[in-house]
Amino acid sequence: MTAPLTVRDLHDVAAQRLPRMAYDYYASGAEDETTLAGNEAAWARVRLRPRCLVDVSARDLSTTVLGRPVAMPVLVAPTAFQRMAHPDGELATARAAAAQGTVMALSTLATSTLEDVADAYDAARGARGGRWFQLYVYRDRGVTRALVDRAEAAGYDALALTVDAPFLGRRLRDVRNGFALPAGLSVANLAGHGKGAVDRALGDSGLAAYVATMLDPSLTWRDVEWLRSITRLPVVVKGVVRGDDTRLAAAHGASGGVVSNHGGRQLDGAVATADALREVADAAGDALEVFVDGGVRRGSDVLKALALGARAVLVGRPVLWGLARDGEAGVASALGMLRSELDLAMALAGCATARDATPDLVA
Ligand code: FNR
Ligand code: LAC
Repeated sequence: MTAPLTVRDLHDVAAQRLPRMAYDYYASGAEDETTLAGNEAAWARVRLRPRCLVDVSARDLSTTVLGRPVAMPVLVAPTAFQRMAHPDGELATARAAAAQGTVMALSTLATSTLEDVADAYDAARGARGGRWFQLYVYRDRGVTRALVDRAEAAGYDALALTVDAPFLGRRLRDVRNGFALPAGLSVANLAGHGKGAVDRALGDSGLAAYVATMLDPSLTWRDVEWLRSITRLPVVVKGVVRGDDTRLAAAHGASGGVVSNHGGRQLDGAVATADALREVADAAGDALEVFVDGGVRRGSDVLKALALGARAVLVGRPVLWGLARDGEAGVASALGMLRSELDLAMALAGCATARDATPDLVA
């Protein structure tokens, strides 16, 4: 193939290169994968109403997230087990995100420790911070607390509490492949607590079994307050798709919300995020910063998200496809493609700045 030009080209390279179990884990969704497909389809259905004769000779893609400047409204979503894509894994992603001037959210289930990722990110950025830590709450609250303390000590700016995964969605490709972490890889952040191994499980995905035994399915809004009571970091609730839950998130002290269905990996049949975004943004008002992820594959998708009320998008699989291609450079190219596509889409839509992507920009 000629050099990849788009995120979808990067996907095709990754699909050829990655071992089956890794590719299927990254690519798949739950059950019939209707929500997985629905996310991309919903962005495609949104239609833009470009403004004409606006001076777009200079564009400014920058914005702020939780009060911190970012170079573009495209952030890196937390995705588990990045060393299955490339030996540098999360460290490569961190370096690329930092160099692009954007936030990386690191998964609890990373294959590198949160301290090593913090160091890689900060070294590439030349400053401390600019990263989020995604939190899964373990049944063992002592272990959870230790993770939160470590994230705080390592200079993470926010905790993204994932609220759409009390159990893992049933991903049939993982069940069929007998998913387990390849030899040499572990849930690095938990290895010191004896919770680092994701082994094969009979008749199931090893990850589904890990989640079912380790993570706490009893979480409620009260636990958002518990989390706030043990940390000074702002909490972003990841996985809201309803206005009423958005108001609850604000009432329980969250600083932000990510409109997400986990990339179609949890409840199959869940609403597409592009379709849920406006309701959430309306409910959030000025009380919460609203983010969205799921199926964002084009710069024009980012522009649509901004117009529908998001402050920024997060991208999951595009980063993994870049990582699989060639580590840090591949992640940089995935982010760079989205950046330059957004820049052009803004120009063609008559938006000189990200703030010009107002609700009237979509039909
Ligand atoms: C995820 N996602 C995820 N979310 C989370 O909160 N913690 C995690 O560990 C993971 N792990 C993970 C692994 C893989 C392989 C994927 C694809 C996704 C969900 C992720 O943060 C995000 O919500 C979606 O990936 C967004 O959809 P796209 O951009 O992948 O379509
Ligand atoms: C996933 C979990 C780890 O989607 O969030 O695979």
